[in-house]
Amino acid sequence: MSNKQFDVVVIGAGPGGYIAAIRAAQLGFSVACIDEWSNAKGGPAPGGTCTNVGCIPSKALLQSSEHYEHAGHAFAEHGIDVAGLSLNLGQMIKRKDTVVKQNNDGILFLFKKNKVTFFHGRGAFAGAAGAEGYPIAISAPSNETINAKQVIIATGSNARALPGTPFDEKLILSNTGALAIESVPANLGVIGAGVIGLEMGSVWRRLGSKVTVLEGLPTFLGAVDEQIAKEAHKLFTKQGLSINLGCKIGAITTGDNNVKVEYTDAKGEAQSVVFDKLIVSIGRTPNTNGLGADVAGLALDERGFVAVDDDCKTNLPGVWAIGDVVRGPMLAHKAEEEGVAVAERMAGQHGHTNFNTIPWVIYTSPEIAWVGRTEQQLKADGVAYKAGTFPFLANGRARALGDTSGMVKFLADAATDEILGVHIIGPMASELISEAVVAMEFKASAEDIARICHAHPSLSEATKEAALAVDKRTLNF
Ligand code: FAD
Ligand code: NAI
Repeated sequence: MSNKQFDVVVIGAGPGGYIAAIRAAQLGFSVACIDEWSNAKGGPAPGGTCTNVGCIPSKALLQSSEHYEHAGHAFAEHGIDVAGLSLNLGQMIKRKDTVVKQNNDGILFLFKKNKVTFFHGRGAFAGAAGAEGYPIAISAPSNETINAKQVIIATGSNARALPGTPFDEKLILSNTGALAIESVPANLGVIGAGVIGLEMGSVWRRLGSKVTVLEGLPTFLGAVDEQIAKEAHKLFTKQGLSINLGCKIGAITTGDNNVKVEYTDAKGEAQSVVFDKLIVSIGRTPNTNGLGADVAGLALDERGFVAVDDDCKTNLPGVWAIGDVVRGPMLAHKAEEEGVAVAERMAGQHGHTNFNTIPWVIYTSPEIAWVGRTEQQLKADGVAYKAGTFPFLANGRARALGDTSGMVKFLADAATDEILGVHIIGPMASELISEAVVAMEFKASAEDIARICHAHPSLSEATKEAALAVDKRTLNF
């Protein structure tokens, strides 16, 4: 019997892969998508890191833990007294798992709706391309080989472990273990003050852990605009996160129920701390495990990413790669954008991904969001710019919400007023940033935003006011 033949096979059903599969099917290709992730019952769990152990479950726990913190600390100010508040962590984790399952099921439904054939198992190149395209072998439970003229690799990334300290997911946790702790650890250690460290550190701090973050670099959130990062450091420290910069991690030893971390602090002094659990969040590595890259002759770069050009083309004709397994920011929406662009390029269209307008969000409280260049980048690039900031303290909606921390900051070209970067720390920054992304895509000036009518009272008025601040003419501050 000859192998099933498809126009396109997508390996990996994370946000990059499943979106690429749907877009390719919309464009008239016959499409298969292969993914190996299994749920607790052994069934398929498409959605990748993002859905299973990333964006979605972390945001579910961030939301639940924020409700808990508000009920304990913020409601009283609103005149709501909560008596007998208690934490049901089991229910919180169960709800998170339900949210994940809803997303897994949603993707399977979307595959059916768009006539994408889904295979559960690991996909690997079984040889070089022949007359029928690339043979792709799929492991159990699907257990078959299919052929496709075009292949999209979307196999994502894995958490990076400290050398010599593998994750056991009981005491030394990656993101997977950090999202499934069964009882609140009294003392939680976090190595790496990046996005995961701050988000997961916030979750467990809100639920009652004493959280100590150990960061290798001497600066806090180096990729974030310095003024915003400084504000974030101040606010997170006030909330009770202990953030230690410039730490050189030494020996890590596990006992029966605890982990000892030895490190040298920023002053060069030797330190030793014992934690109940340790989250290691020091970045992620591309996942090409078992993909058969060598069998097909697929080129990887020196860091193990699949090597691609600006259009996501690999060295093999008809083979593309997208998302976390290729260069660029490891973000779900970046993976999705590349997936759509590749499907459109395969169809002869002009797929488009604008790396300059990819928004970043850190879902702490307050949230941090930005798009475009930071003030320090503009200085390094020698660009003449004007800056304008507006604090949420002066925004009526923020006062009504009871959440006045942070600010909106605009950076615009000194000569043309074109918006070069927008940086927000404050309530709902993740939603507010969209306006800035649209503005930058349309090459708007700060004046454009300043002249647009924004609803009152809304947090978005802070965006308008920050745009006015570029011209030193705020109305409410
Ligand atoms: P993945 O989502 O990693 O998906 C790859 C899929 O391919 C997986 O299902 C894997 O099992 C499968 N696979 C791998 N190899 C094979 C094979 N050979 N055969 C078959 N299947 C295979 N990003 C955001 O934008 N916003 C957030 O809020 C956010 N939060 C995050 C929180 C955490 C804790 C983590 C860890 C990450 C977060 N990210 C977030 C990053 C985001 O999850 C990734 O950027 C995104 O998932 C990358 O998508 P992808 O499709 O490239 O890969
Ligand atoms: P990260 O790159 O955000 O942060 C890693 C931190 O660890 C850095 O501050 C780095 O200096 C530090 N570090 C590295 N090695 C170290 C060492 N040996 N000792 C001490 N500190 C060390 O990586 P993270 O947090 O693991 O997240 C991975 C990626 O996942 C992110 O870069 C992001 O792309 C994605 N993500 C996105 C989220 C979002 O969009 N909200 C949420 C969570 C993850």
